[in-house]
Amino acid sequence: MEQHKILFVDHTAVMGGAELSLLDLATAYSQTSKVLLFKDGPLRDRLEKAEVKVSIAQASETMLNLRTSGGLNSLTTVPELWNIAGHMTQEAKGYDLILANSQKAFVTAAIATLRGSPPVLWYLHDILTAKHFSRINRMVAVFLANRFAAKVLVNSQATGKAFVAAGGKEELLEVVYNGFESQKFDIVAIQDIETIRSQLGIGNAPLIGLFSRLSYWKGQHILLDAIKELPQVHVILVGEALFGEQEYVFKLKTLAAMPELAGRVHWLGFRDDIPALMKACDIVAHTSTEPEPFGRVIVEGQLAQKPVIATAAGGALELIEDGINGYLFPPGDAIALRRLIQKLISDRSLAETIAQQGYINAKTNFSLETILVSFTQAIAQCQQS
Ligand code: UDP
Ligand code: GLC
Repeated sequence: MEQHKILFVDHTAVMGGAELSLLDLATAYSQTSKVLLFKDGPLRDRLEKAEVKVSIAQASETMLNLRTSGGLNSLTTVPELWNIAGHMTQEAKGYDLILANSQKAFVTAAIATLRGSPPVLWYLHDILTAKHFSRINRMVAVFLANRFAAKVLVNSQATGKAFVAAGGKEELLEVVYNGFESQKFDIVAIQDIETIRSQLGIGNAPLIGLFSRLSYWKGQHILLDAIKELPQVHVILVGEALFGEQEYVFKLKTLAAMPELAGRVHWLGFRDDIPALMKACDIVAHTSTEPEPFGRVIVEGQLAQKPVIATAAGGALELIEDGINGYLFPPGDAIALRRLIQKLISDRSLAETIAQQGYINAKTNFSLETILVSFTQAIAQCQQS
């Protein structure tokens, strides 16, 4: 079957989960498709290494930092929005459709439809709730989606539900989960795992990994609270503040320096060797205090054959069956998290069973191959005639 010609668009080139998802899709469609970014950054290099064509429509910082709640200030960016939408329409010539991978990319793409662009699909990676988006922001995005989107792909049912709750039309929705290559995890050499552990200098101590950008709602502080009374446990925090959350990083560092925790929290920054790092852990934790739209790290932890403990909300509920292939705990509940950690480190055979069930779940339901089929089906009817 001939592949669709897709113009993928994202406003950021920072490596968040939505951008890693885009990297996989654009790589699979590299023969026919192209990516348009509103800013240069690491995503561009990663795409080019995968032989994906990339262009940049340089947007101003004002537009990139724009919150739709910004009142009259936001009006100053209207002419720029119109121009970038024009640029996008030009770039999209000869393509079957535009796939907007972020909210700002979608708003611009919706305007591009007024300038004669091909049909626009929005791949929505966020849960549209008041916690993350202002009312006006949600209203604008949902209004534009209902009016201009040929379809809204969502990364989980939870994301779809929130879209409908915000006034979005249910008939536009199609769930396309994230997909993963298990091979990247299966090929990790024992030596690499040993090197990681010996560099940490932790001997045989139980190690818990939290793989996420440093941000309050990702809940790193919940894990640190949970291990305060587990003196043998060490933690690696993998990731950095991608969107300017420096104040939270400062608070987290202060917490980690407390006598109960000192020397047990290891800061690894942003890393590209996630499979090996996960394999070096005994448990992978996900601690978001708000519903996670999907939660790539949960599936990755399962592929690394580690027991995953995640927050019981949002997309995580679609990835973990509690007590079968992972564990769930109430958002923000450090005591419940501590109990689960204790249970898993004191019962290695239980940990092993949960890990193996998780591996089966991830391989069966979230392989990149399966997800590419569902993506291809989802976009099938949107081709321009
Ligand atoms: N990740 C990474 N390096 C890091 C920390 C995280 O490559 O240092 C990856 C992680 O493996 C996952 C993604 O970033 O694939 C984060 O996606 P997730 O859906 O968990 O959360 P998001 O940050 O997108 O909300
Ligand atoms: C977003 C969400 C995350 C999801 C990712 C990929 O970054 O916050 O939960 O896994 O997109 O869809």
